[in-house]
Amino acid sequence: MRGRVVAIDGPSASGKSSTARAVAEELGFAHLDSGALYRGVTLVALREAARRGRAHEDPLDVLEPEAILRAAEDRGLMLQPDGAGFAAYLEGEPVDTEIRAGRVTGSVSAVSAVPVVREWINSRLRAMVRAGRDVVVDGRDIGTVVFPDADLKVFLTASPVVRAGRRITQRGVDPDPQRLEAEAAALAARDHADSTRPTAPLRPADDAVLLDTTSLAFREQVARIVELARPLLARR
Ligand code: DC
Repeated sequence: MRGRVVAIDGPSASGKSSTARAVAEELGFAHLDSGALYRGVTLVALREAARRGRAHEDPLDVLEPEAILRAAEDRGLMLQPDGAGFAAYLEGEPVDTEIRAGRVTGSVSAVSAVPVVREWINSRLRAMVRAGRDVVVDGRDIGTVVFPDADLKVFLTASPVVRAGRRITQRGVDPDPQRLEAEAAALAARDHADSTRPTAPLRPADDAVLLDTTSLAFREQVARIVELARPLLARR
């Protein structure tokens, strides 16, 4: 039997992952971070390029997408159930820190624009839900493409400056005006790349609930989504 699905989509640094994790905890669902798989495939691509002595090139110039996906399978890229969520593994080692490092972040938009990469990841996400787990899944196209029949769809937004401030504070540094401006520009570039790509662009599903978190505190945004999801708990 398929598990219940809450889909949370939105742009970079809109707080999707931390919100999805907190909502999952409240509901007793597992949190599935689809971006972790995109980042995992990107890490595979970077490592394979390095194995070929071409670490400093764009990995998509070094390898065909099919070769990257074959390497992902051969080297055991996977999300394994871990507490209330899933942890990313590659070559038998946890890679949750490495997939969030700058090198991966710099290449992930290009890798995630490749249609066969998206199909490969989507089939893995669907298999995890077919296994019967109730999940809160966060990403860019969860409500539009991966789970168009999700039980609840939420699209989070926040102004670029607020998102930039949250991202900088997360890193534990001072969000001074220069850093804010640079980070907001980097986020805007990534938003643009993610929302104008031909395959599965970032956009809200027609039946998604839009939640602008610009002036919401974290616990308020979690509470709103939990409230929207509460009727699901009675189902089953
Ligand atoms: O949410 P994140 O920053 O970890 O996502 C990393 C990248 O993966 C982001 O640039 C867009 C891509 N992504 C995607 O295209 N579709 C998803 N469902 C999730 C992430």
